[in-house]
Amino acid sequence: MDQQFTRRKLMRTAGAAIAAGTAIGSLTEAASAQTVGKTLLIVGINCSPRKGKTTAAALQTALNAAAKVDQQIDTRLIELAGMNIGVFDPANPAASQGNFKDLIPVLSDAKVAGIILGTPVYFSNMSSQCKAFLDHCIVFRRNFALSGKVGGILAVGGVRNGGQELTIQSVQAALLCQEMIIVGDGKPTGHTGATLWNPGNDDITGDEFGLDTARNLGRRVAEVILK
Ligand SMILES: Cc1cc2nc3c(=O)[nH]c(=O)nc-3n(C[C@H](O)[C@H](O)[C@H](O)COP(=O)(O)O)c2cc1C
Repeated sequence: MDQQFTRRKLMRTAGAAIAAGTAIGSLTEAASAQTVGKTLLIVGINCSPRKGKTTAAALQTALNAAAKVDQQIDTRLIELAGMNIGVFDPANPAASQGNFKDLIPVLSDAKVAGIILGTPVYFSNMSSQCKAFLDHCIVFRRNFALSGKVGGILAVGGVRNGGQELTIQSVQAALLCQEMIIVGDGKPTGHTGATLWNPGNDDITGDEFGLDTARNLGRRVAEVILK
């Protein structure tokens, strides 16, 4: 009973944070400008602490493939690197959000039909930035603001089999709680999501298999959105 009460209280507090988020402008304006003439937006979230590196490159590959599916589809890459997103504090979720509050109006926008979340593999699982992001997504769960949006996951590791699939499944588990529609990489690779390999020089261009999974993931997210 006590546990239920605490949970309800937490959700109410999180709801207040959603309302506060509507006042934040810059990211929302940028998204609107990009979607002129387009009706569907797929957002890539890069959860690497390193901006523009291998996870970003893999996400851009997936987004490019998604954009090719239909001219209604626009894409946008958001880098969490450099954003100050705190470790989720259930005693004071709004205060621990930091810059996450800037993302609230962006991600809950009805134009956002899909989210492709990319994370580097850190010790066979997601990055700290990714976990913090997913925990703060509790603000969306009060009204299931992400319900029905299509989600695809991408993981880049330093070795071929470094835990990419476990990482993908961990992120999927969190997004399933949001009532999102989770898809894997589409055929012909057809598994849990995009699994890429950084051979150590931050250059994934030689990872043909991994890049194929990224393209197939982007295409699959777009195709399911259109359905
Ligand atoms: C703390 C830490 C832990 C890591 N653990 C793994 C791991 O378990 N498996 C793996 O394949 N790569 C691991 N890596 C390598 C990264 O996943 C890899 O370098 C990735 O390309 C980094 O993504 P980025 O270029 O977007 O930053 C680890 C790297 C760091 C810094």
